[in-house]
Amino acid sequence: MKSVVIFTDEPHVHGGWHGKQLEAAFANRHVKVQFVSLADCVLDFSGSAVGICLPDDAGNPELVFVRGIAGGTLQQITTRLNVLHMLAMQGACVVNTGKAIERTVDKAMTTFLLKQQNVPTPATWVCESRQQAHALIHEQLDAKNKLLIKPLFGSQGRGIRLLDSQSVLPLPMDALVDGVFYLQRFVETGQQSHDYRVLVVGNEPVAAMRRNGQSWLNNVAQGAQCEWIDDKDILELAVKAALVLEIDYCGVDVIRDAHGQLYVLEVNSIPAWRGLQSVTGFNIAQTLADFALKKATR
Ligand SMILES: Nc1ncnc2c1ncn2[C@@H]1O[C@H](COP(=O)(O)OP(=O)(O)O)[C@@H](O)[C@H]1O
Ligand SMILES: [Mg+2]
Repeated sequence: MKSVVIFTDEPHVHGGWHGKQLEAAFANRHVKVQFVSLADCVLDFSGSAVGICLPDDAGNPELVFVRGIAGGTLQQITTRLNVLHMLAMQGACVVNTGKAIERTVDKAMTTFLLKQQNVPTPATWVCESRQQAHALIHEQLDAKNKLLIKPLFGSQGRGIRLLDSQSVLPLPMDALVDGVFYLQRFVETGQQSHDYRVLVVGNEPVAAMRRNGQSWLNNVAQGAQCEWIDDKDILELAVKAALVLEIDYCGVDVIRDAHGQLYVLEVNSIPAWRGLQSVTGFNIAQTLADFALKKATR
């Protein structure tokens, strides 16, 4: 294979740190990277053959690696995901697949799939009605449980809110995130707030870390400190989650409560790995690039 397309929402800067890491990793295998935004593709259904036209002569890629899907309207996102589906249907190797991205970007679908396959995940409720959300919140707070409200499509800890008995009810209108309440029971981890991030590639746990948060939010983007770990139970649980989501590679968030019970919080289909790289002794981008090249030539 001579070239690979990396879909990114920042093609002008080579997909940022992660894109450049992948570019170097592919270059080590003599594969050239072209950075393309899904928003710049043209679907041309005018001729006898279907045309999925990528900008800058990116042509008919054999391998595409998805590192970003720019936000947009429902129609725009649907079109961008359809480009991934159509490329795969035309024989391209797509990492991660549109299907896997759809399943994981939506926290409710992830929770559903995890629950369905008996992968432990915290008690969660999803609804649109403010009234029903308030009833659920009251019930949980009365039972002395704390709750989180998360954006359904959130990432890097943005927009998550903690509700405890001190919280002011009814919730202010802006707590309703894009019309959906995703409410989840808060898992207490003991004195030092922490959780775990496992990178799973090809259903193998390749690297894992403990993230010690500055607050109850343990995202690296929120300032958490990273520490390499090798904990069989955590790694096994993360692989189970990846298998359930049928995903090529992912960042699985795992949390352990004060009694030792592990839960999967979410599965990231476009995970950042800069924090993990800082505590890992091998090049993560190389592992990802080699995995993708192997998959594409299967
Ligand atoms: N149910 C929970 N109990 C305790 N902490 C949680 C829970 N859900 C999320 N968190 C904390 O919030 C962080 C972000 O939540 P997560 O569901 O991973 O969303 P994001 O997509 O924003 O990373 C987690 O890494 C964890 O520190
Ligand atoms: Mg997360």
